[in-house]
Formats: sequence, structure tokens, C-alpha cells
Amino acid sequence: MTDRQLMSAAKEASLNAYIPYSHFAVGAALECEDGTVYTGCNIENAALGSTICAERTACCKAVSEGQRKFRRIAIYADSQNWCTPCGACRQFLAEFSPDMEVLCAKAGGRYVSYKLSELLPHTFDF
Ligand code: THU
Repeated sequence: MTDRQLMSAAKEASLNAYIPYSHFAVGAALECEDGTVYTGCNIENAALGSTICAERTACCKAVSEGQRKFRRIAIYADSQNWCTPCGACRQFLAEFSPDMEVLCAKAGGRYVSYKLSELLPHTFDF
């Protein structure tokens, strides 16, 4: 799957975002080492801290299906700024694949690419 195709899966996933509070839809598409792709969207909650981001939704879907190693994640939002993953999502993904690639889009569909290790140096571990 190309980067563009992965980003297009992320964009499609953003259509399912449950966002009554922020009205900010995010979609993610996570590619596993075996090529399987899991998508996710953000799911908000009246207890705002219980909100789950699109990236963690996709990661939980993948891990609960037995996946542990990821190659890339594409993150899409119709936003002014590149939609980079929040700190919690960086740590969550780094648990499994600290060197994976992270593609971050913004409105119009252009994207930038990072290594997760660039976005989260000195990942917490014990
Ligand atoms: N959000 C994500 O789903 N992923 C990100 O990378 C950044 C933030 C969500 C959480 C919340 O539902 C909304 O975007 C605004 O913060």
C-alpha cells in the first residue's frame, strides 16, 4: 500500500469520528508488519479525559487482534496545522514500534513524515 492509499484510509476513518465536543475529526490508518491495516477515529466523551484519539483507537484494534509490530501510521485531519499525534499517543505507539513511520496530514491532504523516535525521543520504559 502506498503512503497516499494509507492516508486515504485514514481520511475515510475520520468520517466516523464521534466529536460532539471539539468538532475536530481525526482518522488514523495503522499498517502492521504483515501488511494488515487497522483504522480508527477519535471517540469523545462527556467526561472529556475519557476521550480516545484516532491513533489509539487504531492501535487498540490492532493489538487486540494479536498485532504487535507496526510499520507506518497515517493520521488525517482537515486542519490548518499538520495533525501530529499527541504525547499520549506517541508513548502508546512507541510501546510497540518506536521506529515506525508517522505520516501527518492537514487540510488538502498534503502530509509530512517523521520517525516516531524523532517525535518522542527518550521514550519512557522500565
Ligand atoms: N485527537 C486525535 O484523535 N488525534 C490527535 O493526534 C490529536 C487529537 C482528537 C482528540 C479530541 O477528540 C480532538 O482531537 C481534539 O483534541
